[in-house]
Amino acid sequence: MTGRVTLVGGGPGAADLLTVRAVRALADADVVLVDRLAPHEELAALAPRAEIVDVGKTPGHHAVPQHEIEAMLVRYAASGAHVVRLKGGDPYVLGRGGEEVLACRAAGIPVEVVPGVSSAIAVPASAGIPVTHRDVSRLFTVVSGHAPLGDDELAHLAGLGGTIVVLMGVGTLPSLAAGLTRHGLPAEHPVAVVERGFGPEQRTTVGTLADIVATAARARVVSPAVVVIGEVVRLAHDGETAASETMARAAAMPVIA
Ligand SMILES: C[S@@+](CC[C@H](N)C(=O)[O-])C[C@H]1O[C@@H](n2cnc3c(N)ncnc32)[C@H](O)[C@@H]1O
Repeated sequence: MTGRVTLVGGGPGAADLLTVRAVRALADADVVLVDRLAPHEELAALAPRAEIVDVGKTPGHHAVPQHEIEAMLVRYAASGAHVVRLKGGDPYVLGRGGEEVLACRAAGIPVEVVPGVSSAIAVPASAGIPVTHRDVSRLFTVVSGHAPLGDDELAHLAGLGGTIVVLMGVGTLPSLAAGLTRHGLPAEHPVAVVERGFGPEQRTTVGTLADIVATAARARVVSPAVVVIGEVVRLAHDGETAASETMARAAAMPVIA
């Protein structure tokens, strides 16, 4: 008897940001394949019958390669299991969810997708930053900073207006800030880097396109973090005063390994 796969968006890491449908899928799971940034807290209680397999990735070191994760999904489901693939955020936002669905379909495994709360929206919100705001920004673009953007992409991004949200962008922040400035965004354009959203070590570092690289380096900003570029950053907490206070706090904070 063939089982099935449910690809579940686990949200940005807090168990209480799982959807009701996600919780139901976990309760019914025989096997859970869980990512590094998906909620691990309370997983044993949420999926009491399941074997839990951590396929989490750390930057630069793929604990389980993507093709092997896909093979595992197919293998477990082919043996009759209900497999929950618990991913961080939303499975289809820079999360390779599409590839996993295609692998299941190709193997004839029934697959369902449960959307999740994406860090692209939720992590800025947790720092008091709305990605859109009337009369400030009426669009937001979510972009991967995993690899540096090409010059054409930077030109398009700078020309779009609105808010730019970058995932996996800590390493490429220098080329992004320089590229957006080169293509016309003002040097004083606000930038926030929100690290470890919803965790006890969450912090926000605020600057401008001109100084964010130095400020982030001083604060020893690390992944996972969401970078927000745009006027909406000024709305963080109570506006600019609070934002610069946040920046000062970040610079003074101890190193987070
Ligand atoms: C591979 S992408 C997956 C994104 C995911 N599918 C989503 O919708 O949120 C991983 C990146 O999401 C961001 N991210 C996810 N959870 C985060 C969190 N709790 N705090 C800060 N950034 C987070 C970071 O930029 C991280 O490098």
